[in-house]
Amino acid sequence: MKLLEDRIMQDGIVLPGDVLKVDQFLNHQVDPDLMMAMGKEFAKLFKDEKITKILTVESSGIAPAVFVGLQFHVPVVFARKNKSITMQNDLYSASVYSYTKKVENTIAVANKFLGENDRVLIIDDFLANGQAAEGLFKICDEAKAEIAGIGIVIEKSFQKGAELIHKRGVRLEALAKISSFDGDQVHFED
Ligand code: G4P
Repeated sequence: MKLLEDRIMQDGIVLPGDVLKVDQFLNHQVDPDLMMAMGKEFAKLFKDEKITKILTVESSGIAPAVFVGLQFHVPVVFARKNKSITMQNDLYSASVYSYTKKVENTIAVANKFLGENDRVLIIDDFLANGQAAEGLFKICDEAKAEIAGIGIVIEKSFQKGAELIHKRGVRLEALAKISSFDGDQVHFED
């Protein structure tokens, strides 16, 4: 998606450790016009998939996921990282290790929000090592929900997440695919 690539070139900052800082428009300050355009793009890509629910994980997945939900007019569910006091039993959960933050989180979704009649589109801001995606797959499996696909805003194609998803046979669509970082330069896949 050219609009997104241009924005990454303009505002993205490459940090040590192959991390791209995009807090100007994606995961701290949010650009709603860009989000709306991305929501429309995902909706176009997955329009024939009979999506009944959008699933993401807090926090940075929520903004893009809501804009996709607006296009499909289906509920958006976000897996929670910290069990709230109102979340008691009846949960689907998975353990997710964050390589970037070096912490293990348990993510959870209440049973009542996901079930065997759902066709789920998973949306997330980044795909790096694929741990968040694996956790969300596990939650869908537990709920016996069907996974229609996964939509990613920024895929770092040189990390192992994309391969993991392909191996599982899940349809993956990313709006920007980064093949490498070179100093402060970002290179996209053709
Ligand atoms: P994964 O997302 O594919 O599981 O890979 P990884 O374990 O490496 O990523 C852990 C966290 O770091 C995730 O956020 C992910 O979105 C984020 N992340 C990965 N690569 C980048 C990057 O290049 N730039 C930025 N800005 N973030 C990156 P999280 O732990 O779920 O946190 P949250 O921000 O959504 O709360």
